[in-house]
Amino acid sequence: MANAERSGTPARGEDTFVLVERVTSPYLVLFHHPQGLLAEQYRALRNNIMAMNRSGASRTILVTSAMSGEGKTVTLANLGLAMGEVERTRVLLVDGDIRHPGLEALLGLNRGKGLTDILQDRADLEEVIYDSGFPQVDIMGAGSDVAHPAGLVTSSRMKELFSALKERYRYILVDSPPILPITDGLTLAPLVDGTLLVIRLDFTPRPAVDRALDHLRKVGAPVLGAFLTCAKGLSPGRKSPYYYPYIQDGKDGEAR
Ligand SMILES: Nc1ncnc2c1ncn2[C@@H]1O[C@H](COP(=O)(O)OP(=O)(O)OP(=O)(O)O)[C@@H](O)[C@H]1O
Ligand SMILES: [Mg+2]
Repeated sequence: MANAERSGTPARGEDTFVLVERVTSPYLVLFHHPQGLLAEQYRALRNNIMAMNRSGASRTILVTSAMSGEGKTVTLANLGLAMGEVERTRVLLVDGDIRHPGLEALLGLNRGKGLTDILQDRADLEEVIYDSGFPQVDIMGAGSDVAHPAGLVTSSRMKELFSALKERYRYILVDSPPILPITDGLTLAPLVDGTLLVIRLDFTPRPAVDRALDHLRKVGAPVLGAFLTCAKGLSPGRKSPYYYPYIQDGKDGEAR
C-alpha cells in the first residue's frame, strides 16, 4: 500500500485514497492536523521515549491506562505515526486489546487476521502484519474473535513473538485493555521493555491512577512515564505557533 497523502490529485486505483477517506477520527492528529499543537505533544512524547533509548535497540512499549476510554488507542496510533516520521525508524502497532480491539478502526482499516491468529497457530507472521499506509508504520490487528480470550495471551508465546518482531522493527507499540476492570489487563506488562500510562484529565480519579501504578509495579512492569490526554484547550485542529516543517514544497527547512 502506498503512503497516505493529505493533498494532491489522487492517482486512480491507489488504495491509499481509500485509507484517507476512512480515517475519520479527528484525534488521529498526526494525520489530520500534523502542524497542530496536539500533534506536537505526540512528537514530544516520541522524542522523550526515543531519548530514553540511547542504544537505539529495538523496544516493545505497552500503552495502558487504569480505566477504559482514557485515550490509549489514540495515543498509541499518534505516537506510532510520530515515530514513523523519524528516519530509519520502522514501527509496528499491535492491538493487544483482544476483547475490545479498536486500532484498525481508528486507522480506517478493516479488521483482518492478527494477534489471536498467531497465538493459535492459525497464521504466519507475514499474514498478520500489514502496511498501515503511513510511512514506516505497519500494523498487527487483534485478529479473529475468540470464544475464550482469557489465557490466550500467554507469556511464553508473547516473548517468542516479541523477539521475532524486534528483528524487524525498532519500536513495537502494543495497545492493551485497561488495568483495573480487566483481570488479564496486566498480562503483557511484565513482558515489554516499557509501559506508558495514559491518564485522562478530569476523568480518572487519583486513587485509580495510584492503583494502576501499584499493579504495574507489583508485576515488575517498567513504567516509562505517564501521558495526559484530553487537556482543555488542545482541540485537535489548534495550530502550533512553534511548528516548523523540515521540508516544505520540496525545499529543506524553508517555511511558507
Ligand atoms: N488527546 C485527546 N484529547 C481529547 N480527546 C481524546 C484524546 N484522545 C482520545 N480522545 C477521546 O477519547 C476517546 C477514547 O479514546 P481511545 O479509544 O483512544 O481510548 P482507549 O483508552 O483506547 O479506550 P478503551 O479502553 O475503550 O480501549 C476517543 O474516541 C476520543 O474521543
Ligand atoms: Mg482502546
